[in-house]
Amino acid sequence: MYREKLSLEGRTIVVAGAGGGGIGTAVCEAVAEVGASVVAVDIDPEALAEAEQRIRERGGRGRGVIADVRTREGAERAMAEAAAGPGPLSGLVHIVGGAREGHWEPSADYPDEAFREVMELNLDSAFQTCRAAARAMIDAGTPGSIVCLSSISGSASSPFHLPYGIAKAGIVQMVQTLAVEWGRRSIRVNAIAPGSIRTPRVPMTENPARDRAAIPLGRRGDASEIAGAALFLLSDLASYVTGQTLAVDGGATGKLSFIGADDVPVFMDDPEMRARLVPDSD
Ligand SMILES: NC(=O)c1ccc[n+]([C@@H]2O[C@H](COP(=O)([O-])OP(=O)(O)OC[C@H]3O[C@@H](n4cnc5c(N)ncnc54)[C@H](O)[C@@H]3O)[C@@H](O)[C@H]2O)c1
Repeated sequence: MYREKLSLEGRTIVVAGAGGGGIGTAVCEAVAEVGASVVAVDIDPEALAEAEQRIRERGGRGRGVIADVRTREGAERAMAEAAAGPGPLSGLVHIVGGAREGHWEPSADYPDEAFREVMELNLDSAFQTCRAAARAMIDAGTPGSIVCLSSISGSASSPFHLPYGIAKAGIVQMVQTLAVEWGRRSIRVNAIAPGSIRTPRVPMTENPARDRAAIPLGRRGDASEIAGAALFLLSDLASYVTGQTLAVDGGATGKLSFIGADDVPVFMDDPEMRARLVPDSD
């Protein structure tokens, strides 16, 4: 029973922002592996080619569509391509987003243009693809599952990239509202809030000691671990889950800022007590 519930056999899933070897590409691989026909959408032909190749390597079915999903035209064209495929459109994973180099600035001097760019990339694009996907599902009378990418920066602070945090918090709100409006159409809408994930576009060096200190599971995440959560939310295993944002962050959001590298509050000065609580800390 559970094996069947995990299967996406016979379903068409759109992945918007599929390329580049990051989270979108991992989602393409995952949904292809459990039998879905993947419509991989990206603005960048080179990035898209990489996703298409990875789907083929998994022995999966899929095709690519070049579109800018920040626009209504791009999002609707992507869904029209998906609806023209072998099975009904039954899922969307909206990946597009991020904060690029020029989007990191102190809030007191934050440039208007960068603010608009970040909102368009993260929030407008999510709304455009969700609306276009739901329209296609409602017109076809088919149930479906939509998954958006928020971030743990949407539930805490996002210093020096304020609009990113605002947009990702907006996605938490958006999935709640859409889940209510579209629930009666049997369309579920959820989000994933990743922690720090190793992807080609997030240039951070590996530092095991630092990562162990910052994250309860002791390491940064892998794109496949976000894909696993997306698979769950897309599948019938999550048939009673909607309007939720699932943090996939190695426990990072559960760790308060004043809990130190040894997991003891930094204000706890008594060395004997520290030694008793964390005997192997040296
Ligand atoms: N990597 C992390 O640590 C992390 C953490 C939290 C949240 N997230 C979120 O996860 C998502 C994916 O992150 P990633 O690092 O894998 O991203 P990425 O930048 O590697 O991939 C995004 C893909 O989207 C495509 N794209 C960009 N603009 C587009 C548009 N207008 N239309 C269509 N395609 C477009 C890009 O070409 C790229 O291939 C983002 O929303 C990001 O905010 C990532």
